[in-house]
Formats: sequence, structure tokens, C-alpha cells
Amino acid sequence: MAALIAMRDVKKSYGENVVLNGINLEVEKGDIVAIIGSSGSGKSTMVRCIAGLEDIQSGKIFLRGEEIIDRNSVVHSIGMVFQNFHLFPHYTVEENIIKPLRTVKKMDLKAAKEKSEELLRKVRLSESARQYPSTMSGGQKQRLAIARALAMNPEILVFDEPTSSLDPELAHEVFRTIKDLATEGQTMLIVTHQINAVSHFATRVAFLDSGIIEADGACKEIFENSDNQKLKQFLAMVEFNTI
Ligand SMILES: Nc1ncnc2c1ncn2[C@@H]1O[C@H](COP(=O)(O)OP(=O)(O)OP(=O)(O)O)[C@@H](O)[C@H]1O
Ligand SMILES: [Mg+2]
Repeated sequence: MAALIAMRDVKKSYGENVVLNGINLEVEKGDIVAIIGSSGSGKSTMVRCIAGLEDIQSGKIFLRGEEIIDRNSVVHSIGMVFQNFHLFPHYTVEENIIKPLRTVKKMDLKAAKEKSEELLRKVRLSESARQYPSTMSGGQKQRLAIARALAMNPEILVFDEPTSSLDPELAHEVFRTIKDLATEGQTMLIVTHQINAVSHFATRVAFLDSGIIEADGACKEIFENSDNQKLKQFLAMVEFNTI
């Protein structure tokens, strides 16, 4: 059976700057892939290409074996959660979920409310349904962003540094929600510098360096047994920085 997402020799440049230099990646249903690598290695660009937010210059990206030609056709299959939440500030918490369900999924109000209640329960925000995002902590905002992405029933959820603007305690809350989704079998791609946190639930790790996937494998293989020098250097540096 075809992989849920497959990237084949994907290349992307900004002017002279080659950012993705032949990416090959397969994501199976149920995979939770942590994407790591130093700043500027191309992590955000790679996931933005998967989510249909960027054009690619060459190569192909497939969703369930079908080449993605029209980017609009994938926006609801692939949910995206950003570092800075991207919420609607003028809507309450529940409206942030209800409004897109009404406009995009064409749900009636009752069904949209029920779905919103279910999702807010899932991310532990039921108590905050009537608040505005500006009154919430960063961790709460990010959990709302996750609930809103889930409302579209995405086949795959893509996170780009979901916790890097948060204090450790709030980051922990967000990782707890992501971990709950992992338990439910949600397919996820997570770009993060918080390697320790993802290592508890990622099924795989892909290490990017200068627009190439230098190493891709099970957590143990990547963190403990790899003899890739670039990866070893990167991990040593990350460890050093977190002390
Ligand atoms: N919109 C853009 N226009 C021009 N160059 C860009 C653009 N977006 C990214 N780049 C360049 O592409 C390269 C890779 O950027 P990218 O944001 O994908 O890296 P990253 O691995 O996500 O880094 P970080 O860990 O800092 O988020 C960088 O050299 C960056 O300057
Ligand atoms: Mg980035």
C-alpha cells in the first residue's frame, strides 16, 4: 500500500539559496516523525511544502500514492500547527473552532458546537470556551490551535516548533496533548528542537542538514546507535545547549 505522504527528490531554492536539495521521505499512517536539524537546515520549508504552503521547483510529493498537483486539494487533509498559534483573536475559543466548521465543513450550528465541545475536552480547554485567546496562556493558545487543526479531521497533523515560544511548564502541557494524539494513532510530523520531549513518543526521527535528510530511523537508532558524524555533532551541540 502507498505511504500516506511520500516526497521524491524534492528540491526548492530561494533565488541562489538551495534550501531543499533532494528530499526523500515516506510517512506511513500512524507514524510520528520528529524532524530535527540545526537552524536554517530546511525543516520549516520541508513541512510547508508538504502542507501545500510552498511551491517546489522539482521532485514530487504524493498523498496516498497520488501526486499532489493542486495544493488546494490537500489543505484539509494536512493540518498545520505553527509556533505562533495563528488564532482568530476576535473570536472566542469555541468560535475559533465553530466558525471554520461552519464555513469550511458546512456544518450546522448544533453539530459544530458539539464538535467544538468534544475537541475542547480533548485538549483540556472546556473551561475556557467563552474566553478570548488574548486572555489565555501560550500553552492554552497552542492547545486551541491544535483543536482547531483537528476540527478539519486531517489525515496528518504537521507541527512547526509548537512549543519553542513557551516556558517549559507550558511546553509540557502541549506535549501532553500531542502525546494523547499519538496514543490515538494520529499521524504527525513534528519539527522541534525539544528532542528529549519528542523522544518519548516519536516513532521515527528524520535529521535534516543543508536541505538533505542525513539520517532517518527509529528513535533509538538515531539517538544512540547512529555513526553519522553530522548527526553526532548536532546532538552533542543540542545537549550542550540544554545544560
Ligand atoms: N520565504 C523565504 N524567502 C527566502 N528565503 C527563505 C524563506 N524561507 C526560508 N528561507 C531560507 O531557507 C533556509 C531554510 O529555512 P527554514 O526556515 O526552512 O529553516 P529551519 O530548519 O526551519 O530553521 P529554524 O530552526 O531556524 O526554524 C534559510 O536559509 C532561510 O533563510
Ligand atoms: Mg523553522
